[in-house]
Amino acid sequence: MKSHSRNAYIALFICLIAVFVINAQESNTKQKAVLVTGASSGIGLKITEQLSDRGYFVYAGARKQSDLERLNAMENVQSIKLDVTKWDEINAAVETVKKEGRGLYGLVNNAGVAIFIPLIEVEEEDLDFQLDVNIYGPYRITKAFAPMIIESKGRITTIGSISGILSGQFFGPYSMSKHAMEAYTDALAVEMKKFGVEVNIVEPGNYNSKIVESLVKRMKSNDISYENSLYKEEFEGLISGYGADRSRFKDPSEVSDAVEKALFSDNPKRRYMVVPSEAEGNWTITQIMREMVQLNENQAYKYDRDALIEILDKVLAETE
Ligand SMILES: NC(=O)c1ccc[n+]([C@@H]2O[C@H](COP(=O)([O-])OP(=O)(O)OC[C@H]3O[C@@H](n4cnc5c(N)ncnc54)[C@H](OP(=O)(O)O)[C@@H]3O)[C@@H](O)[C@H]2O)c1
Repeated sequence: MKSHSRNAYIALFICLIAVFVINAQESNTKQKAVLVTGASSGIGLKITEQLSDRGYFVYAGARKQSDLERLNAMENVQSIKLDVTKWDEINAAVETVKKEGRGLYGLVNNAGVAIFIPLIEVEEEDLDFQLDVNIYGPYRITKAFAPMIIESKGRITTIGSISGILSGQFFGPYSMSKHAMEAYTDALAVEMKKFGVEVNIVEPGNYNSKIVESLVKRMKSNDISYENSLYKEEFEGLISGYGADRSRFKDPSEVSDAVEKALFSDNPKRRYMVVPSEAEGNWTITQIMREMVQLNENQAYKYDRDALIEILDKVLAETE
Protein backbone atom coordinates (compact mmCIF):
# COMPACT_ATOMS: atom_id res chain seq x y z
CA MET A 1 0.00 0.00 0.00
CA LYS A 2 1.35 3.40 -0.90
CA SER A 3 2.13 5.54 2.11
CA HIS A 4 -0.35 8.35 1.22
CA SER A 5 -3.29 5.92 0.92
CA ARG A 6 -2.22 4.19 4.17
CA ASN A 7 -2.24 7.60 5.84
CA ALA A 8 -5.70 8.27 4.45
CA TYR A 9 -6.97 4.97 5.96
CA ILE A 10 -5.42 5.85 9.33
CA ALA A 11 -7.02 9.34 9.21
CA LEU A 12 -10.42 7.79 8.37
CA PHE A 13 -10.05 5.28 11.22
CA ILE A 14 -9.24 8.08 13.70
CA CYS A 15 -12.26 10.08 12.46
CA LEU A 16 -14.56 7.08 12.98
CA ILE A 17 -13.26 6.58 16.53
CA ALA A 18 -13.73 10.30 17.26
CA VAL A 19 -17.34 10.17 15.99
CA PHE A 20 -17.98 7.08 18.12
CA VAL A 21 -16.54 8.74 21.27
CA ILE A 22 -18.52 11.97 20.70
CA ASN A 23 -21.75 9.98 20.19
CA ALA A 24 -21.10 7.94 23.32
CA GLN A 25 -20.49 11.13 25.32
CA GLU A 26 -23.66 12.71 23.90
CA SER A 27 -25.84 9.74 24.77
CA ASN A 28 -24.32 9.75 28.25
CA THR A 29 -25.25 13.39 28.78
CA LYS A 30 -28.71 12.94 27.23
CA GLN A 31 -29.51 10.24 29.77
CA LYS A 32 -30.20 12.62 32.63
CA ALA A 33 -28.95 11.42 35.99
CA VAL A 34 -30.90 11.70 39.23
CA LEU A 35 -29.87 10.92 42.79
CA VAL A 36 -32.59 9.46 45.03
CA THR A 37 -31.89 9.16 48.75
CA GLY A 38 -33.51 6.37 50.77
CA ALA A 39 -34.09 4.20 47.71
CA SER A 40 -34.24 0.87 49.55
CA SER A 41 -38.00 0.78 50.10
CA GLY A 42 -41.35 2.54 49.82
CA ILE A 43 -41.51 5.81 47.90
CA GLY A 44 -37.75 6.00 47.16
CA LEU A 45 -37.75 2.52 45.65
CA LYS A 46 -40.82 3.35 43.54
CA ILE A 47 -39.17 6.55 42.26
CA THR A 48 -36.01 4.59 41.42
CA GLU A 49 -37.99 1.93 39.54
CA GLN A 50 -40.06 4.46 37.60
CA LEU A 51 -37.23 6.78 36.58
CA SER A 52 -34.88 3.96 35.59
CA ASP A 53 -37.69 2.30 33.57
CA ARG A 54 -38.20 5.59 31.73
CA GLY A 55 -34.51 5.55 30.75
CA TYR A 56 -33.14 8.05 33.25
CA PHE A 57 -30.00 7.08 35.12
CA VAL A 58 -30.56 6.76 38.86
CA TYR A 59 -27.98 6.95 41.62
CA ALA A 60 -29.88 5.10 44.32
CA GLY A 61 -28.82 5.90 47.88
CA ALA A 62 -29.11 3.09 50.41
CA ARG A 63 -27.49 1.99 53.65
CA LYS A 64 -27.55 -1.80 53.85
CA GLN A 65 -25.29 -4.00 51.70
CA SER A 66 -28.20 -6.23 50.63
CA ASP A 67 -30.16 -3.16 49.45
CA LEU A 68 -27.12 -1.78 47.61
CA GLU A 69 -26.70 -5.08 45.75
CA ARG A 70 -30.41 -5.37 44.92
CA LEU A 71 -30.55 -1.80 43.55
CA ASN A 72 -27.30 -2.18 41.63
CA ALA A 73 -28.73 -5.15 39.75
CA MET A 74 -31.41 -2.90 38.20
CA GLU A 75 -30.90 -1.52 34.71
CA ASN A 76 -29.94 2.21 34.63
CA VAL A 77 -29.30 2.17 38.37
CA GLN A 78 -26.09 2.54 40.31
CA SER A 79 -26.42 2.17 44.04
CA ILE A 80 -24.47 4.41 46.35
CA LYS A 81 -23.88 3.86 50.05
CA LEU A 82 -25.47 6.95 51.51
CA ASP A 83 -26.58 7.69 55.02
CA VAL A 84 -27.87 11.28 54.96
CA THR A 85 -26.60 11.88 58.50
CA LYS A 86 -22.96 10.99 57.67
CA TRP A 87 -20.76 13.58 55.98
CA ASP A 88 -18.06 11.03 55.09
CA GLU A 89 -20.57 8.99 53.07
CA ILE A 90 -22.06 12.12 51.53
CA ASN A 91 -18.64 13.41 50.43
CA ALA A 92 -17.72 9.99 49.04
CA ALA A 93 -21.03 9.92 47.13
CA VAL A 94 -20.26 13.32 45.57
CA GLU A 95 -16.86 12.01 44.43
CA THR A 96 -18.44 8.88 42.96
CA VAL A 97 -21.04 10.82 41.00
CA LYS A 98 -18.40 13.28 39.76
CA LYS A 99 -16.13 10.46 38.60
CA GLU A 100 -18.95 8.81 36.65
CA GLY A 101 -18.96 11.86 34.39
CA ARG A 102 -22.71 11.98 33.69
CA GLY A 103 -23.22 15.14 35.73
CA LEU A 104 -26.26 15.32 37.99
CA TYR A 105 -29.54 16.79 36.77
CA GLY A 106 -31.92 15.86 39.57
CA LEU A 107 -31.83 15.40 43.29
CA VAL A 108 -34.66 13.74 45.19
CA ASN A 109 -34.46 14.21 48.95
CA ASN A 110 -36.60 11.26 49.91
CA ALA A 111 -34.91 9.53 52.88
CA GLY A 112 -37.05 9.97 55.95
CA VAL A 113 -38.10 8.52 59.28
CA ALA A 114 -41.00 9.03 61.66
CA ILE A 115 -41.49 8.91 65.39
CA PHE A 116 -44.84 9.30 67.10
CA ILE A 117 -44.24 10.54 70.63
CA PRO A 118 -46.04 13.27 72.63
CA LEU A 119 -44.11 16.53 72.66
CA ILE A 120 -43.98 16.76 76.45
CA GLU A 121 -42.50 13.25 76.64
CA VAL A 122 -40.18 12.98 73.67
CA GLU A 123 -36.52 12.60 74.65
CA GLU A 124 -34.10 15.02 73.05
CA GLU A 125 -32.17 12.20 71.41
CA ASP A 126 -35.36 10.96 69.71
CA LEU A 127 -36.22 14.46 68.54
CA ASP A 128 -32.65 14.80 67.25
CA PHE A 129 -33.03 11.51 65.36
CA GLN A 130 -36.22 12.78 63.71
CA LEU A 131 -34.85 16.17 62.73
CA ASP A 132 -31.37 14.90 61.81
CA VAL A 133 -32.71 12.65 59.06
CA ASN A 134 -35.72 14.66 57.86
CA ILE A 135 -34.34 18.22 58.03
CA TYR A 136 -30.56 18.09 58.25
CA GLY A 137 -30.52 15.21 55.75
CA PRO A 138 -31.94 17.24 52.82
CA TYR A 139 -29.87 20.24 53.94
CA ARG A 140 -26.62 18.19 53.85
CA ILE A 141 -27.37 16.37 50.60
CA THR A 142 -28.50 19.51 48.80
CA LYS A 143 -25.50 21.50 49.98
CA ALA A 144 -23.10 18.77 48.88
CA PHE A 145 -24.60 18.24 45.42
CA ALA A 146 -25.61 21.86 44.72
CA PRO A 147 -22.54 22.64 42.55
CA MET A 148 -23.39 19.72 40.23
CA ILE A 149 -27.08 20.63 40.08
CA ILE A 150 -26.19 24.26 39.33
CA GLU A 151 -23.84 23.14 36.58
CA SER A 152 -26.65 21.20 34.88
CA LYS A 153 -29.35 23.82 35.62
CA GLY A 154 -31.21 20.94 37.16
CA ARG A 155 -33.95 20.27 39.71
CA ILE A 156 -34.18 19.61 43.43
CA THR A 157 -37.26 17.85 44.77
CA THR A 158 -37.95 17.00 48.38
CA ILE A 159 -40.49 14.50 49.60
CA GLY A 160 -42.43 16.50 52.14
CA SER A 161 -45.82 15.36 53.35
CA ILE A 162 -49.32 16.58 54.01
CA SER A 163 -47.87 16.61 57.55
CA GLY A 164 -46.04 19.70 56.33
CA ILE A 165 -49.47 21.35 56.56
CA LEU A 166 -51.30 19.19 59.08
CA SER A 167 -50.26 18.32 62.59
CA GLY A 168 -51.90 16.65 65.52
CA GLN A 169 -51.64 14.39 68.50
CA PHE A 170 -48.26 12.57 68.61
CA PHE A 171 -47.33 13.82 65.15
CA GLY A 172 -45.45 16.80 66.62
CA PRO A 173 -41.85 15.71 65.88
CA TYR A 174 -42.67 14.32 62.43
CA SER A 175 -44.84 17.22 61.33
CA MET A 176 -42.30 19.72 62.71
CA SER A 177 -39.77 18.12 60.36
CA LYS A 178 -42.11 18.26 57.39
CA HIS A 179 -43.25 21.83 58.14
CA ALA A 180 -39.56 22.76 58.10
CA MET A 181 -39.20 21.37 54.59
CA GLU A 182 -41.96 23.71 53.38
CA ALA A 183 -39.91 26.72 54.49
CA TYR A 184 -36.70 25.12 53.26
CA THR A 185 -38.18 24.62 49.80
CA ASP A 186 -39.47 28.18 49.47
CA ALA A 187 -36.17 29.75 50.53
CA LEU A 188 -34.05 27.41 48.41
CA ALA A 189 -36.28 27.96 45.38
CA VAL A 190 -35.63 31.71 45.49
CA GLU A 191 -31.90 31.24 46.11
CA MET A 192 -31.49 28.79 43.23
CA LYS A 193 -33.54 30.76 40.71
CA LYS A 194 -30.57 32.85 39.57
CA PHE A 195 -28.78 29.62 38.59
CA GLY A 196 -31.71 28.29 36.57
CA VAL A 197 -32.35 25.52 39.10
CA GLU A 198 -35.98 24.65 39.92
CA VAL A 199 -36.83 23.59 43.46
CA ASN A 200 -40.07 21.94 44.52
CA ILE A 201 -41.72 19.71 47.07
CA VAL A 202 -43.92 16.63 46.65
CA GLU A 203 -46.37 16.20 49.50
CA PRO A 204 -47.87 12.74 49.79
CA GLY A 205 -50.73 11.58 51.93
CA ASN A 206 -50.75 7.99 53.22
CA TYR A 207 -49.14 5.38 50.94
CA ASN A 208 -47.78 1.93 51.51
CA SER A 209 -44.17 1.86 52.71
CA LYS A 210 -41.97 0.62 55.54
CA ILE A 211 -42.04 3.87 57.51
CA VAL A 212 -44.11 2.57 60.44
CA GLU A 213 -42.39 -0.84 60.39
CA SER A 214 -39.06 0.99 60.84
CA LEU A 215 -40.55 3.15 63.61
CA VAL A 216 -41.76 0.08 65.52
CA LYS A 217 -38.38 -1.66 65.01
CA ARG A 218 -36.50 1.36 66.37
CA MET A 219 -38.85 1.66 69.37
CA LYS A 220 -38.20 -1.98 70.22
CA SER A 221 -34.45 -1.79 69.81
CA ASN A 222 -34.20 1.48 71.81
CA ASP A 223 -36.56 0.23 74.49
CA ILE A 224 -39.07 3.04 73.89
CA SER A 225 -42.51 2.15 75.19
CA TYR A 226 -45.75 3.93 75.93
CA GLU A 227 -46.15 2.00 79.21
CA ASN A 228 -45.44 5.01 81.45
CA SER A 229 -46.89 7.63 79.13
CA LEU A 230 -49.55 10.05 80.29
CA TYR A 231 -51.20 9.17 76.99
CA LYS A 232 -51.04 5.38 77.37
CA GLU A 233 -54.71 4.89 76.56
CA GLU A 234 -54.63 7.00 73.42
CA PHE A 235 -51.54 5.14 72.22
CA GLU A 236 -53.20 1.77 72.45
CA GLY A 237 -55.73 2.92 69.85
CA LEU A 238 -53.14 4.70 67.76
CA ILE A 239 -50.65 1.86 67.46
CA SER A 240 -53.26 -0.79 66.78
CA GLY A 241 -54.82 1.67 64.30
CA TYR A 242 -51.57 2.30 62.44
CA GLY A 243 -49.87 -1.04 62.85
CA ALA A 244 -46.56 -1.60 61.17
CA ASP A 245 -48.36 -3.08 58.18
CA ARG A 246 -49.27 -0.32 55.74
CA SER A 247 -50.35 -2.71 53.00
CA ARG A 248 -53.90 -1.37 53.33
CA PHE A 249 -52.60 1.84 51.77
CA LYS A 250 -52.06 2.36 48.03
CA ASP A 251 -48.80 1.61 46.28
CA PRO A 252 -46.93 4.95 45.95
CA SER A 253 -46.86 5.12 42.13
CA GLU A 254 -48.94 8.34 42.24
CA VAL A 255 -46.08 9.85 44.24
CA SER A 256 -43.41 8.75 41.76
CA ASP A 257 -45.55 10.17 38.92
CA ALA A 258 -45.53 13.53 40.71
CA VAL A 259 -41.76 13.31 41.25
CA GLU A 260 -41.24 12.64 37.55
CA LYS A 261 -43.28 15.76 36.74
CA ALA A 262 -41.45 17.80 39.38
CA LEU A 263 -38.12 16.79 37.84
CA PHE A 264 -38.84 16.81 34.13
CA SER A 265 -41.94 18.79 33.19
CA ASP A 266 -41.40 22.02 31.24
CA ASN A 267 -43.39 24.04 33.74
CA PRO A 268 -42.69 22.54 37.14
CA LYS A 269 -44.85 23.63 40.06
CA ARG A 270 -43.56 24.55 43.50
CA ARG A 271 -45.85 22.06 45.30
CA TYR A 272 -47.30 18.71 44.31
CA MET A 273 -49.79 17.38 46.83
CA VAL A 274 -50.52 13.72 46.07
CA VAL A 275 -53.25 12.06 48.09
CA PRO A 276 -54.83 8.65 47.82
CA SER A 277 -58.32 9.90 48.68
CA GLU A 278 -60.42 13.04 48.45
CA ALA A 279 -60.64 13.07 52.26
CA GLU A 280 -56.88 13.51 52.75
CA GLY A 281 -56.82 16.38 50.24
CA ASN A 282 -59.78 17.94 51.97
CA TRP A 283 -58.15 17.84 55.44
CA THR A 284 -55.06 19.52 54.02
CA ILE A 285 -56.69 22.28 51.98
CA THR A 286 -59.14 22.97 54.82
CA GLN A 287 -56.24 23.30 57.26
CA ILE A 288 -54.43 25.80 55.01
CA MET A 289 -57.65 27.84 54.81
CA ARG A 290 -58.17 27.53 58.57
CA GLU A 291 -54.70 28.95 59.14
CA MET A 292 -55.46 31.80 56.75
CA VAL A 293 -58.65 32.61 58.68
CA GLN A 294 -56.83 32.32 62.03
CA LEU A 295 -54.06 34.66 60.84
CA ASN A 296 -56.55 37.18 59.56
CA GLU A 297 -58.68 37.10 62.69
CA ASN A 298 -58.04 40.01 65.02
CA GLN A 299 -55.18 41.40 62.97
CA ALA A 300 -55.03 45.20 62.69
CA TYR A 301 -55.72 45.23 58.93
CA LYS A 302 -58.24 42.39 58.85
CA TYR A 303 -59.65 41.52 55.42
CA ASP A 304 -63.36 40.92 55.01
CA ARG A 305 -64.69 37.94 53.04
CA ASP A 306 -64.75 39.80 49.70
CA ALA A 307 -61.19 41.00 50.16
CA LEU A 308 -60.07 37.46 51.02
CA ILE A 309 -61.71 36.13 47.86
CA GLU A 310 -60.00 38.88 45.85
CA ILE A 311 -56.64 37.70 47.22
CA LEU A 312 -57.55 34.09 46.42
CA ASP A 313 -58.40 35.08 42.82
CA LYS A 314 -55.08 36.89 42.52
CA VAL A 315 -53.14 33.87 43.75
CA LEU A 316 -55.12 31.57 41.44
CA ALA A 317 -54.22 33.83 38.51
CA GLU A 318 -50.52 33.60 39.43
CA THR A 319 -50.56 29.82 39.07
CA GLU A 320 -52.39 29.72 35.74
N1 LIG B 1 -45.48 6.56 53.08
C1 LIG B 1 -46.18 7.64 53.30
O1 LIG B 1 -47.39 7.55 53.47
C2 LIG B 1 -45.53 8.98 53.29
C3 LIG B 1 -46.36 10.10 53.31
C4 LIG B 1 -45.79 11.36 53.27
C5 LIG B 1 -44.42 11.48 53.21
N2 LIG B 1 -43.63 10.37 53.23
C6 LIG B 1 -42.19 10.58 53.14
O2 LIG B 1 -41.67 9.77 52.12
C7 LIG B 1 -40.30 9.55 52.36
C8 LIG B 1 -40.00 8.07 52.18
O3 LIG B 1 -40.63 7.34 53.22
P1 LIG B 1 -41.43 5.99 52.97
O4 LIG B 1 -42.82 6.22 53.45
O5 LIG B 1 -41.20 5.47 51.61
O6 LIG B 1 -40.76 5.07 54.11
P2 LIG B 1 -39.73 3.85 54.03
O7 LIG B 1 -40.25 2.76 53.19
O8 LIG B 1 -39.42 3.56 55.47
O9 LIG B 1 -38.47 4.49 53.33
C9 LIG B 1 -37.60 5.35 54.02
C10 LIG B 1 -36.27 5.33 53.33
O10 LIG B 1 -35.40 6.25 54.01
C11 LIG B 1 -34.20 5.59 54.31
N3 LIG B 1 -33.51 6.16 55.47
C12 LIG B 1 -33.88 6.23 56.75
N4 LIG B 1 -32.93 6.83 57.49
C13 LIG B 1 -31.93 7.16 56.62
C14 LIG B 1 -30.68 7.79 56.76
N5 LIG B 1 -30.21 8.21 57.93
N6 LIG B 1 -29.91 7.96 55.64
C15 LIG B 1 -30.34 7.53 54.44
N7 LIG B 1 -31.51 6.89 54.25
C16 LIG B 1 -32.29 6.72 55.34
C17 LIG B 1 -34.60 4.14 54.57
O11 LIG B 1 -33.45 3.33 54.47
P3 LIG B 1 -33.24 1.99 55.34
O12 LIG B 1 -33.97 0.91 54.61
O13 LIG B 1 -31.76 1.81 55.33
O14 LIG B 1 -33.80 2.27 56.70
C18 LIG B 1 -35.58 3.97 53.41
O15 LIG B 1 -34.89 3.74 52.23
C19 LIG B 1 -40.01 10.07 53.76
O16 LIG B 1 -39.41 11.35 53.67
C20 LIG B 1 -41.39 10.17 54.35
O17 LIG B 1 -41.46 11.12 55.39
C21 LIG B 1 -44.15 9.15 53.27
